[in-house]
Amino acid sequence: MTTAMIPLDDVELNVFDAGEGPVIVFIHGFPLDHTMWQPQLEEFSHTHRVIAPDLRGFGQSEDSAGVSTMEGFADDIADLLDRLNIHEPVTVCGLSMGGYVAWQFWKRYPHRLSRLIQCDTKAIADTPEARQARRESSDRVMNEGTGFLADSMPDKMFSSTTKSNRPELVEEVQQVIRRSSPLGISAALLGMAARPDVTEWLPRIQVPALLIVGEEDAISPPAEMKAIAAALPQGAIEVIPQSGHLAPLENPQHVNRVIREFLQRT
Ligand code: MLT
Repeated sequence: MTTAMIPLDDVELNVFDAGEGPVIVFIHGFPLDHTMWQPQLEEFSHTHRVIAPDLRGFGQSEDSAGVSTMEGFADDIADLLDRLNIHEPVTVCGLSMGGYVAWQFWKRYPHRLSRLIQCDTKAIADTPEARQARRESSDRVMNEGTGFLADSMPDKMFSSTTKSNRPELVEEVQQVIRRSSPLGISAALLGMAARPDVTEWLPRIQVPALLIVGEEDAISPPAEMKAIAAALPQGAIEVIPQSGHLAPLENPQHVNRVIREFLQRT
């Protein structure tokens, strides 16, 4: 898959950009990179222009120290679209942390958003306990590196089916986490801890919206995603079988079909 380094004002992002047609921007989750969307990038680049950046501090993008806020990531997406000469409204598809960024993209650039696809994500902010745990992980990753996240996170991320039938997929994701930059991970942990509750925004998001959730998602469970879909004026939800928190990677055939149907009917 081809990627190129695209310079923004203060950072260079590694960006997958392929295909022609209406634009879909895929925003990855934490602590991953654009490769988590590989099945979607392959499928939709036949009919769309698909853009999938590694967010600052992730994948092959340049590091970014301090706090990477969800607002800042959304600004990077808008800046990236400018650099790629994309000025028409786009479909944004985010997963989990990528979904937090997508809410902010709507808030800051509503005229640039035509449709929203939100996978395995949340609208609420962190609890005080979750915030504290993020701060501790942020310190730990700076002291120890990303190995402990690679060891501990996949158990929560994948469905029982994926864990027993596709150990190679779990291993690939662990490799991505191991390779990722402690600085970028630490900055994003602090940014997620600082993110606002966006529940009150949901009734005002007047674009067609598809919510996708793995039936075994333990991090953003189906009940929570269903409540988000119900609060969105044009929200629909699809629960994906045999999937956990990484539904687009775990059951790509099913996810690609529901995305294709959504794009055709909206
Ligand atoms: C993700 O997959 O991006 C994370 O689960 C987000 C989070 O930690 O809140």
